[in-house]
Amino acid sequence: MIDLHDIRYVRLGTDNLDQAKQFATRIVGLDIARESRDKVYLKSDQRDHTLVYFKGDPADHTVGFELRDPHGLDAAAGHLDDAGFKVRWGTREECEQRYVRAFFNFRDLTGNSVDVVSRPFHSGIRYHGERDAGITGFNHIGLKTTDSPRDESFWTRTCNARVSDWIGDAALLRINIVHHTLALFPSSSAGIQHINHQVESVDDILKAWYFLKEQGVRIVFGPGRHPTSGAMFLYFEGPHGMVFEYSVGVRQIQPEEEATYRPRQFGWEPWSFCYWGAKPDIPEFRTTPAAAKPVAQP
Ligand SMILES: [Fe+2]
Repeated sequence: MIDLHDIRYVRLGTDNLDQAKQFATRIVGLDIARESRDKVYLKSDQRDHTLVYFKGDPADHTVGFELRDPHGLDAAAGHLDDAGFKVRWGTREECEQRYVRAFFNFRDLTGNSVDVVSRPFHSGIRYHGERDAGITGFNHIGLKTTDSPRDESFWTRTCNARVSDWIGDAALLRINIVHHTLALFPSSSAGIQHINHQVESVDDILKAWYFLKEQGVRIVFGPGRHPTSGAMFLYFEGPHGMVFEYSVGVRQIQPEEEATYRPRQFGWEPWSFCYWGAKPDIPEFRTTPAAAKPVAQP
């Protein structure tokens, strides 16, 4: 089994690097760790960086996960290889670009590009966003899946992910104490579906709501509260349609609860996404009859 410790970064292609940088800093509130002609590294916490925009195809997304055992990369690659996945080791130059000591990349069965990294760089420079968004750190992503039960099985059997809850077929998966670090949302293609940063308080959620509206940023869901994780949230649209989320108050499932915790099944309906009654305007969260999928039978 591949024992993942935490999510580490996302890498997104863009055909307008300056616009992506302006959005990430002025709107989201991230901090520039460093930038070059063709990429910008963004900080949201003590990690070297948690988001990279690079000049390239806007559909080119990669998510990076850190292994629990810093020396476990060979074993993890071997495990994937045995399971029939094509593993590509990062070159020295690619490791330098990712600010990790070593990594390999593979594609999951939907085709999502995933880096598994060892000894990613931390930073002695404190994060201080360009605007006071209250961000405490990069927290989780939504990942698209073209076959939820198949991909859920991969993340839970080949890796150490556990299902915290389901909404319809969408599995909210934890790899540590956070209710979900990865959420698999049914879609017709691969890619990152949303990017979450935690903020300090509910005040930051509502301050962001006023601020984003004032800036003309499209709010696509919220303010609201998830019945699954208990988090209060706000989702908004960034460059190339990428959805960004701020949230606060996400449930934690402590190690001593692991033996007794049971995932809950929520129906595919708006109340499963928000118990305040907000309706999502996000393709993968749509609960109209045409988009609704029956719950998979075991
Ligand atoms: Fe989320």
